Amino acid sequence: MFIGAIGCEPLQLRRVHLEHSRSLDVYRRNGGYEALKQVLDGMTPDAVINEVKKSALRGRGGAGFPTGMKWSFVPKDSPKARYVVCNADESEPGTFKDRYLMERDPHMLIEGMLIAAYALGARVNYIYTRGEYRYLINIMDEALDEARKANLLGEKILGTNFSCEIYTHTGAGAYICGEETALLSSLEGMRGHPRMKPPFPAVSGLYACPTVVNNVETLTAVPDIIKMGGEAYQKLGTEKSGGTKLWSVSGHVKRPGVYELPMGYDDMEKFIMEDCQGIAGGRQLKAVIPGGSSVYIMPASDILGKDVRMDYEGLVVAGSMVGSGGFMVMDGTVDVFETTKNLTEFYKHESCGWCTPCREGTDWLVKVFKRIADGEGRPEDAQLLLDICDNIEGKSFCPLGDAASWPIQSAIKKFPEDFKRHLLPLVAGAKEDAALSMV
Ligand SMILES: Cc1cc2nc3c(=O)[nH]c(=O)nc-3n(C[C@H](O)[C@H](O)[C@H](O)COP(=O)(O)O)c2cc1C
Ligand code: SF4
Repeated sequence: MFIGAIGCEPLQLRRVHLEHSRSLDVYRRNGGYEALKQVLDGMTPDAVINEVKKSALRGRGGAGFPTGMKWSFVPKDSPKARYVVCNADESEPGTFKDRYLMERDPHMLIEGMLIAAYALGARVNYIYTRGEYRYLINIMDEALDEARKANLLGEKILGTNFSCEIYTHTGAGAYICGEETALLSSLEGMRGHPRMKPPFPAVSGLYACPTVVNNVETLTAVPDIIKMGGEAYQKLGTEKSGGTKLWSVSGHVKRPGVYELPMGYDDMEKFIMEDCQGIAGGRQLKAVIPGGSSVYIMPASDILGKDVRMDYEGLVVAGSMVGSGGFMVMDGTVDVFETTKNLTEFYKHESCGWCTPCREGTDWLVKVFKRIADGEGRPEDAQLLLDICDNIEGKSFCPLGDAASWPIQSAIKKFPEDFKRHLLPLVAGAKEDAALSMV
């Protein structure tokens, strides 16, 4: 498994291969906590937010919202407490970058959170992980203890007037608790149901107080933004997608791993065929899900020879999204019908049940997938799947509904042959043309 940078100097991954990379000592000897010092030595909170705005850093949790802008939504005159909450749930299928950042460089997250807390005036802050990441909580707790002992956390940090605490918290392993408002409900000790937006968490979040929720990779980018300056960080990427991005690569490539690429890396084909060393077993590329399971599936024909640029704008042009950067590569042996069925079972299982379109719709989707797989499908079933998706997408309470629909819509559109293969035998005596028009 490869962990490193391609096309740029490693930034977020630059310490991960050092011996004892988790320790405060190694972190400090390699530039750690210099950015915090720089901030506390004389930057105003507004100046910090400004640098983050200039960096064109966009949230790495999936939605890609500009981080500096999100921070600036926190009302400055609110008498309430403010919170920074790190979303370390990493529940999106195919995504495994946050865990390496926390496992190998936990102080980078602590430093990023401290700078965010300083900029936003937050005194108490939380790192929320999924239940399955218990071992990471232990690592984070050890690092937090080390920081506390070194006066990098707690009262009057580094002899200044800045006081700040960070606590860890685990959920029970529910995908929906990665959604920021469900996460906040869970953190408050309630069931992990999403909340109505607006109000957005920046105005009314944890305990109805202004709260910034950011992904691990987003927060770990902050120390470098301060050290090199927002503009320099932005220039590592593109105008609208600044900096570098981590891609969790899995599936049928010869060299899976966590890859750090400059935003705007100019060719997805080169990335797969050269950087990830191509498709294992000499087989052909069939499909890629580039941003975690909640984005459109791309067929090889939309990638090969197409110069797909790997950033937020480039992937939209190519028909998909950056999402969480969970980059899943599939070779010619994969049946996209089966892949989509599997994902749909996941979304049905993880639907929190709060709203009808998603709760009932994902259940119906699974029922239709199952009867097709059992050889009992009906000629109109592909269209029925699309109709059910249409009743979920844009009509559900939170984006999980959209996320459940998009893989199916793109799979039927881009891989009709995989659906036909399952449906054709059912249409006994049907003319091939008539049967093919089913999908
Ligand atoms: C169903 C669902 C699951 C999500 N899971 C995660 C997750 O595991 N980690 C994460 O950082 N963001 C996740 N998000 C996105 C968050 O709601 C939110 O956009 C993110 O934490 C904001 O941080 P960022 O601006 O740094 O990306 C999820 C969203 C949805 C709808
Ligand atoms: S869309 Fe699904 S996960 Fe989101 S609130 Fe509705 S039932 Fe819950």
